[in-house]
Amino acid sequence: MVVIRGATTINEDTPDEIRAAVKELLEQIELRNMIARDEIVSIVFSSTSDIHSYYPAKAAREAGFEGASLFSAQEPEIDGSLKLCIRTMLFVEKNIQPKHLYLRGAKVLRKDIAEKINVAIDGPAGSGKSTIAKALANDYKILYLDTGAMYRACALKALEKGIDLSSECEVEELIRHLTLEVKYEEGTQKTYLDGADVSDKIRTPEISMAASTVSRYPFVRLKMAEKQREIASGISCVLDGRDIGTFVLPTADFKFFLTASPEVRAERRKRELESKGYTVDFEQLKEEIVRRDQQDMNRAIAPLKQAEDAILIDTSAMTIEEVLQAIKKKIQEKI
Ligand code: DC
Repeated sequence: MVVIRGATTINEDTPDEIRAAVKELLEQIELRNMIARDEIVSIVFSSTSDIHSYYPAKAAREAGFEGASLFSAQEPEIDGSLKLCIRTMLFVEKNIQPKHLYLRGAKVLRKDIAEKINVAIDGPAGSGKSTIAKALANDYKILYLDTGAMYRACALKALEKGIDLSSECEVEELIRHLTLEVKYEEGTQKTYLDGADVSDKIRTPEISMAASTVSRYPFVRLKMAEKQREIASGISCVLDGRDIGTFVLPTADFKFFLTASPEVRAERRKRELESKGYTVDFEQLKEEIVRRDQQDMNRAIAPLKQAEDAILIDTSAMTIEEVLQAIKKKIQEKI
């Protein structure tokens, strides 16, 4: 006897969605494990507490699995659990190495056996991309890489060394010898520059503008992109930045481009900086944001741009939760 596990998600709690999802899941499990229907002794289902419209066991019977003893149960409501999810366990009279199967949104439940997913979230400063990327990575329990932090670290080094930022040669020479490391401490990204943790130091408005300036230079971009690809290779992750969908990971499975009006973005940045103890002027901040957008959009290499296949979301009038749900819905629809 072997036990095969599987899970899938639906987009809406309707009988049709449940029937289609259960049929697909069971048929795929049969196919992948090369089992015959009469070898299945029993199938047990559990569904999350937001599913009420149909019994998965009934859907299985209708899909032709009536020869096995079928059973469904509902799971308790668990904070942060994947929504609209149906899990299954098949007891099969066969001696094989089971191939468990996680489909659609449930792929994120078993990253060890499911395919890896890369999510690119690009957009201008204050569009909400880092908050969303962080929350998404946390929900899916996958890695989050804030690529802006890397350009910020380059800028910090240049400012500390008193380099003329308008001199491409000087910046290039400096970046050539810089040791930049991204580490994860208790799930939080930390940026280390020449061995020192600079994660907080790189968050000032001065560094924001300087990061935008040094990130124009091809040498800096190529070096950072190479590092970003290295970190993202082989694992499921969410990267946020300006050029992830167009340049760093052009084949990312999911691409989003977030925007918001300059006023909303400046207001968000103001609140963020004030919460860290900085005193900021709204008008000045707005002007800086617009200037930074211009600089990021108009550079020659890998500018801030929406990838053709990216989904555009204007977050101006949306809450963080609304943006997060919109993105998760798109992801779950596709996988
Ligand atoms: O996302 P952020 O505000 O931390 O980024 C700071 C600057 O770094 C931004 O103005 C432009 C640059 N940057 C970039 O050119 N490409 C990225 N992928 C991320 C940031």
